[in-house]
Amino acid sequence: MTNRFQRHTITAALPYANGPVHIGHLAGVYVPADIYVRYLRSKGEDVLFVCGSDEHGVPITIRAQKEGVSPQEVVDKYHAIIRDSFQQFGISFDVYSRTSAPVHHQTASEFFTNLHKKGVFEVKESEQYYDEQASQFLADRYIKGTCPNCGYNEAYGDQCERCGTSLSPSDLIDPRSMLSGAKPVLRTTTHWYLPLQDFEGWLRKWILEDHKEWKPNVYGQCKSWIDQGLQARAVTRDLDWGVPVPLPEAEGKVLYVWFDAPIGYISATKDWAERHGKDWRPYWQQEDTRLLHFIGKDNIVFHCIIFPAMLKAHGAYTLPENVPANEFLNLEGNKISTSRNWAVWLHEYLEAFTGKEDVLRYALTANAPETKDNDFTWKDFQAKNNNELVAILGNFVNRAMVLTHKYYEGKLPERGEIYSAEKEVLTQLSVLPGKVADALDNFRFREGLAAMMELARLGNKYLADTEPWKLIKENPERVKTIMNLSLQIAANLTIVAAPFLPHTAEKLRNMLQLPLLSWQEAGRDDLLPAGAQLNPAELLFQKIEDSVVEEQIQKLQNTKIANEAAAAPAGTLATPASEGAAEGTAAALAQAGNAPAAEVAPAKPEIVYDDFVKLDLRVGTVLSAEKMKKSKKLLKLLIDTGIDQRTILSGIAQHFEPEQLVGQQVMVLVNLAPRPMMGEESQGMVLLAEDASGKLVLVKPEAKVNNGSSIS
Ligand code: 2FM
Ligand code: ZN
Repeated sequence: MTNRFQRHTITAALPYANGPVHIGHLAGVYVPADIYVRYLRSKGEDVLFVCGSDEHGVPITIRAQKEGVSPQEVVDKYHAIIRDSFQQFGISFDVYSRTSAPVHHQTASEFFTNLHKKGVFEVKESEQYYDEQASQFLADRYIKGTCPNCGYNEAYGDQCERCGTSLSPSDLIDPRSMLSGAKPVLRTTTHWYLPLQDFEGWLRKWILEDHKEWKPNVYGQCKSWIDQGLQARAVTRDLDWGVPVPLPEAEGKVLYVWFDAPIGYISATKDWAERHGKDWRPYWQQEDTRLLHFIGKDNIVFHCIIFPAMLKAHGAYTLPENVPANEFLNLEGNKISTSRNWAVWLHEYLEAFTGKEDVLRYALTANAPETKDNDFTWKDFQAKNNNELVAILGNFVNRAMVLTHKYYEGKLPERGEIYSAEKEVLTQLSVLPGKVADALDNFRFREGLAAMMELARLGNKYLADTEPWKLIKENPERVKTIMNLSLQIAANLTIVAAPFLPHTAEKLRNMLQLPLLSWQEAGRDDLLPAGAQLNPAELLFQKIEDSVVEEQIQKLQNTKIANEAAAAPAGTLATPASEGAAEGTAAALAQAGNAPAAEVAPAKPEIVYDDFVKLDLRVGTVLSAEKMKKSKKLLKLLIDTGIDQRTILSGIAQHFEPEQLVGQQVMVLVNLAPRPMMGEESQGMVLLAEDASGKLVLVKPEAKVNNGSSIS
């Protein structure tokens, strides 16, 4: 730590309390944060690790509505599940609070009031959809209609979950309220806006000049946002679940969940301080505090742009020093999805793999999505356990322990003469902890884990090379040296493995009868004194059999089948709102040119050949393309279909510049009934596919063909 800092406030994204935590959350946020925090604590730093449940927002009210319970009941249920599973898994928060707690309501209210009194907010009127039957304004997710891009009639007001296009409610054809089914009407409402454009110059310098060291994925996303020009963002909502806006004229309104959630880090700190008789202020309000936010990539804009702008506007708070965000983890090749139950849930893992917390921590760290999205597979999980944890780390420790018991009744022998093999081992032993530290200091957790395993490999190889079991008769003095040195390596592993594998490190400490040693001790070759009595050997890891992972793979297979079955009747593909997209995250990313990868859509029901031939699909050429006024999504295309020249409106404005399309051959569904959209008529549909990043690409003939050529 540079001298500038006296303490660290480390935050991990507050998970939404509308569902349990899954391996994607763990790999992206909680495991790296926990490794980092444990490492800092081991160095003796003053660290506060805060988290809690994010209990507001539309996903929670929608789940409550679906389950026929109150939002408070939803968050109570999931808060308990999440809190307990984190604890069992060994995520070592100093506090796990919640945003429905009074301390949070008060803190968020005060924060808003402070900014309001300073005149920071713009107050603006806008037209929003309102359900006259339910007497309520409708959040984007409460409005459904037909997607202007793919014709799916269960698209949400913020996104079509079939084609992945991000939408505004006004883009939907035939919008309807999810509360009453009524057609929503536009009504004027007032909201408070954070004028991000006023912070643009400051953000440009603070991030793009002063924080060039941030991870490229984080820096790149911030740059893209800032370069596109920032706009005022509404920080209030017409909703009855959340922190009430503390102004008499704002009755019935609450703070936008993304305004109150990051303030949740501050209220969690207050919660901790109250419970422990401490002062929360130094952790947030002193310049010598190093604030770090561990998050997933869908949260970057909120933590790097919006929350810092709020903190800056307030003036009393320190700003984040770094935001080491990760990319996403996929599961068996598909995007993890709460609503489709495509996930490995932490609480279920802990039940099925009791005592194997560290195996998951290891597999997720080894495969962490640090620079790009990565995939978790059960086969890889099994391989990491069997070929690395069991075969290297476990095997080394076990052999060292068993042989010491066998030859010396479990007492550490004196070291004797040093041969060249030992010299090399001693050098490596002194170097490797520094390698781990260097990686962790730079948030390169995979590299840190690999360096830790190098230490275990070193020990394993040393025993395999020197073969003390063969030397014990002819050169017993050498064996004493070998066993002593092997156990010094094991003792070092209690320090160096602890941030990654805390349960294992504790087991190892018990075997070696060692106390918790600080990071500064790592690299020494005398952590265990000669004569020290060891406890009996215990296996650190056990082989995972094929049948165990096959059961998990089958479980996912069943999920896939269930999803397909649920999708069977036309028009019922709609999945309940749940993911971050529900709060505009996906839309936010799309704006940054970085849309999250869409899921593979479930298979549709079988059709007969006669159904297929009803589709008149032809090759056409785009003659002109232009943006539609008043729509962020729609492009107006003039297409030569070989039959005629016609206008097609396509919801692809965020994926293509109009000029990119002109002259391109495309595939067109020409006999789709014309549909009115925003004062124009769309006469057909252009076929598109989605790439791995969620970007739409044209479906084109492999070679140029005549316009009007039929596709069959
Ligand atoms: O994306 C999410 O799951 C949000 N609940 C994260 C909030 S982080 C912070 F701002 F509280
Ligand atoms: Zn669509």
